[in-house]
Amino acid sequence: MEIGRQDEYAWFESAFYTLTGIDLSRYKRQQMERRLTTLRDKRGFATFADYLSACRSDPALLAELLDRMTINVSEFFRNRVRWDMLRSELWPEIARPGRSVRAWSAACSTGQEPYTLAFLLASRLPLDEFSILATDIDESALTVARQGAYPATDLASIPDEMRGPLLEVRDGRGQVAPALRARIEFRRHNLLADPFARDFDVIVCRNVLIYFTDDAKEQVYRKFATALRPGGILFVGSTEQIFHAETYGLVQRQPFFYQRLQ
Ligand SMILES: C[S@@+](CC[C@H](N)C(=O)[O-])C[C@H]1O[C@@H](n2cnc3c(N)ncnc32)[C@H](O)[C@@H]1O
Repeated sequence: MEIGRQDEYAWFESAFYTLTGIDLSRYKRQQMERRLTTLRDKRGFATFADYLSACRSDPALLAELLDRMTINVSEFFRNRVRWDMLRSELWPEIARPGRSVRAWSAACSTGQEPYTLAFLLASRLPLDEFSILATDIDESALTVARQGAYPATDLASIPDEMRGPLLEVRDGRGQVAPALRARIEFRRHNLLADPFARDFDVIVCRNVLIYFTDDAKEQVYRKFATALRPGGILFVGSTEQIFHAETYGLVQRQPFFYQRLQ
């Protein structure tokens, strides 16, 4: 049966879902279709049907396709001023006396974001007074994240005063200390399909919701709001301002920081 050009991508979305459990129809179509079509063409397949059939028998080809759809770009202390804001003005909202801090870095990619959070929390609290859940849909990104090893140049943005014994840099490579790594639990989690844990003091979710459709985004905001404890903070990316935050039971405290209402 001939599949019409217009429908071919819709067919691919459904076949890709069966193969990977990832629902591409919840990502903005134009960007995703363009990105994946470019890769398909580069690999020499005229149709998504042929491409996917090749992916089924070639794990490396499938891994490359998954890699292209996830976009793992990240960096330590991305938009430093915002992290400073979290550490200073929003600190009283996050840390409450007599309780350890429970944080979630959602869509954490290769780990730069949860380690940033860990360095920041360690600069204000003893290590045993905070824990971080770090999740992503992409297992290969999580494998990199768990190792906590990066080129020294990538680590340059970690402030000197936060490093101490928590970061060892030698021969152009840096290694996050095991004691700090132990504060982070890395786990696979699909924001569009898996249940959300609860009672977080702070959730950091940056530079992923921009790829989702409006419907998917709204659903995730709603779930983040209930995953926070009352008064907890949601920290989003610099292009991800939430319009009508109150619809989700959130209030804007600073640009890109939202607080769950009591
Ligand atoms: C551009 S990176 C953002 C990394 C980090 N949050 C930052 O801002 O530096 C986007 C990440 O979102 C992840 N991602 C994409 N779709 C996802 C989903 N449905 N659930 C969880 N993570 C997802 C990708 O695997 C990728 O690692």
